[in-house]
Amino acid sequence: MNKLIHPVTITFVVVTLIGLLPFFIKKATPVLTESQLRDRALSTAFSPVPQTYEGLLKVIDNPENMLTKEKIALGKELFNDKLLSDDKTVSCASCHKLEEGGDDNLPTAIGVRGQPNPSHLNSPTVLNAALAKAQFWDGRAKDVEEQAGGPIQAPFEMHMTPQDVENRLNLYPEYVAKFKNVFHENNVTFEQVRKAIGAYERTLLTRGPYDRFLEGDDNAISAQAKRGMTLFFSQGCKGCHAGISVGGQTMQKFPLRRYFSEYIGLWFEPNIKLRESPFPFVNEGGFMGKDGLQKFRVPILRNVTRTAPYFHNGAVEKIEEAVRIMSKYQLGNEFTPEQIDDVVAFLKTLEGDVVKYDIK
Ligand code: HEC
Ligand code: HEC
Repeated sequence: MNKLIHPVTITFVVVTLIGLLPFFIKKATPVLTESQLRDRALSTAFSPVPQTYEGLLKVIDNPENMLTKEKIALGKELFNDKLLSDDKTVSCASCHKLEEGGDDNLPTAIGVRGQPNPSHLNSPTVLNAALAKAQFWDGRAKDVEEQAGGPIQAPFEMHMTPQDVENRLNLYPEYVAKFKNVFHENNVTFEQVRKAIGAYERTLLTRGPYDRFLEGDDNAISAQAKRGMTLFFSQGCKGCHAGISVGGQTMQKFPLRRYFSEYIGLWFEPNIKLRESPFPFVNEGGFMGKDGLQKFRVPILRNVTRTAPYFHNGAVEKIEEAVRIMSKYQLGNEFTPEQIDDVVAFLKTLEGDVVKYDIK
């Protein structure tokens, strides 16, 4: 008995309890009122997608590619036109279906003649992509105008040279007339094609319950979604998935953390591909992000619940698993199943419809 309350024993027990404290504290979701939650978002550059065309121009206009009604309409036509691929079987819309969250719902993109992306890359959404600071998984294009030139030329996507595109479109008098009306030049050029598509993409913004909540409607989202939003804004998700598009603003390392227990587990892992993967999933295609440093353009989370499968190579099917991985590997604070469901309920409020702007 005496030995049990020995000062060394007491010190040991106290130190252990203090050491375990963070595990208990971290699991509790803090409680914020609606207005506190809204202030957290609005004070850190999160904002609703504008409802009006004037509002849109404020967040989206590119001085090097001014939006006009005719340019946007031309861009929409090109985005949906299979003429931009060598065998006329693939358009931008083949891989970026607006009605399906702006992607193709495949693990990896399939281009002309059934070719898969060589790095097994997953198609990101085009919805709200114009709000991002960099495009592509490795952030290599600065905006949607520059980006649009990529897939047209990629041999495994549309497989056309700029010259092919110009030659082909100049064969169609209706196209030549439309381009001339917009750009006031006699021939269609590749640069004009990029600009018209980019202009159209700048109008592909979506609004949903989250936007209405930010605008002051307390009832726009459920109590569960508010708990999830509180976790998102208090536990660190917002640091990376930031801005009006809820992502797309920075390049970040993934995974930030590895766990010793996993190295031991992987030792016994029969799946050699998983053992060799630096990710918590098999890295089919071997893509390692920008400069091979596991740095990725942070994905846009607007409409994310409609764009399964997840991560750069579409390795994860379920949004719940994607959130669990994020909480564990990016925050170092693995969420409980209830917390994951709450966060997913919040992510669902980021679903939205493409705003029908009254384009002038
Ligand atoms: C074969 C399927 C396919 C086609 C066709 C295709 N894309 Fe993509 N798109 C992808 C994939 C895969 C990526 C990611 C590639 C990467 O990061 O290297 C991507 C990336 C993008 C992005 C970047 C989004 C972001 O958030 O980083 C935009 C914007 C985009 N595509 C628009 C277009 C446009 C415009 C066209 C037509 C000119 C087009 N895509 C044609 C599959 C496709
Ligand atoms: C340190 C930066 C960082 C933090 C913090 C972070 N993420 Fe991410 N997130 C990323 C990056 C980078 C990716 C893409 C990784 C990849 O595809 O290989 C990603 C991917 C995702 C995806 C998959 C998106 C898709 O389209 O494939 C979801 C969902 C997601 N994060 C949600 C969250 C949630 C919820 C939190 C908070 C629990 C969070 N993230 C915290 C950087 C971060």
